[in-house]
Amino acid sequence: MDYKDMLKEARGNLNGSCRVCKSCNGVVCAGEVPGMGGKDTGYSFIQNYKSLQDIKINMRVIHNVSNPDTSVEFFGKKLKAPIFAAPITGTTLNMGGKISEREYITPVVEGCIESGIYAMVGDTAVDQFLMDNLDVLKENDGQGIVFIKPWENHDIIKKIKLAEEAGAFAVGVDVDACGLVTLSMHGKTVVPKDVEALKELKASTKLPFIVKGIMTVEDALLAVEAGVDAIVVSNHGGRVLDCTPGAAEVLPSIAEAVKDKVTILVDGGVRSGTDVLKMIGLGADGVLIGRPFVTASFGGGKEGIEMYVNKVISELEATMRLTGCQNIKDIDKKVIYR
Ligand SMILES: Cc1cc2nc3c(=O)[nH]c(=O)nc-3n(C[C@H](O)[C@H](O)[C@H](O)COP(=O)(O)O)c2cc1C
Repeated sequence: MDYKDMLKEARGNLNGSCRVCKSCNGVVCAGEVPGMGGKDTGYSFIQNYKSLQDIKINMRVIHNVSNPDTSVEFFGKKLKAPIFAAPITGTTLNMGGKISEREYITPVVEGCIESGIYAMVGDTAVDQFLMDNLDVLKENDGQGIVFIKPWENHDIIKKIKLAEEAGAFAVGVDVDACGLVTLSMHGKTVVPKDVEALKELKASTKLPFIVKGIMTVEDALLAVEAGVDAIVVSNHGGRVLDCTPGAAEVLPSIAEAVKDKVTILVDGGVRSGTDVLKMIGLGADGVLIGRPFVTASFGGGKEGIEMYVNKVISELEATMRLTGCQNIKDIDKKVIYR
């Protein structure tokens, strides 16, 4: 199977829920939530993509970097590159219903492990989906990270225990999902979290604790005050609130405020190895990639995931060579053209 065949297969299996466009930019699917798009006008998803595309990089070729090293360490785990599969849940709600949650997530988790990175798995309105995700993680020695929705704290803490039992090496809460329509449509109550609530969640587990959905310097500072181990700069792929800036636009000021106080991950519109380099140049320690992992799993299963991850890693290597970065720590402001 080549990359083009994989995308063609994905188009069929996604059953109309995603057109698998040449550029996954949120234009055609604007307003499709539930579905694969961004909320309402789709601006937040479109802006994630556009703001990242608009970043230009400095080509630097007078140096001796010929074999760049993309490896990194997060949460005590070595990764071949600073990339995670973002938590994406809800095959029946969002992805056309042709493939079950388990059929979709198994190749994501296993394909990531095979290619030297890790998957994050999520939680949604249908409780069984988290259980399926945890079963798959357990079958793979817990090699992944679990994100739980912002339910009342006592419910989150119960689910954190289940993630611990499944062997996950970190846990998190996507706090921005307190605005997600797929949850309210199912009568599920999610709530915003204040610093005290986050402190309680952090204290409930020995695992590294991550907060996903930070889009302002103020929230980043509050997350640091709560003692979290990592933040994900993210607008949930533009699915919770219309008219936000793109993640790449807010990342530099957030990084300036909290760099080295907390691990900074980011997502939204990352599609290629060049995009990974841009996000790190803008101040992130690592990235999450969302929708392309859905297409890869729906189109090619484990082989599709490995093909996609290897493609992104080789693009990252090529871009590091052309910007003179020997390792990930070398990627900083100097690679960004201003
Ligand atoms: C269909 C769909 C389902 C998602 N489900 C979850 C989820 O269960 N938990 C979560 O934290 N984020 C979820 N997200 C958001 C992603 O983790 C991620 O933030 C976003 O997709 C990144 O943007 P990108 O797809 O442009 O890469 C979902 C996104 C989509 C498109």
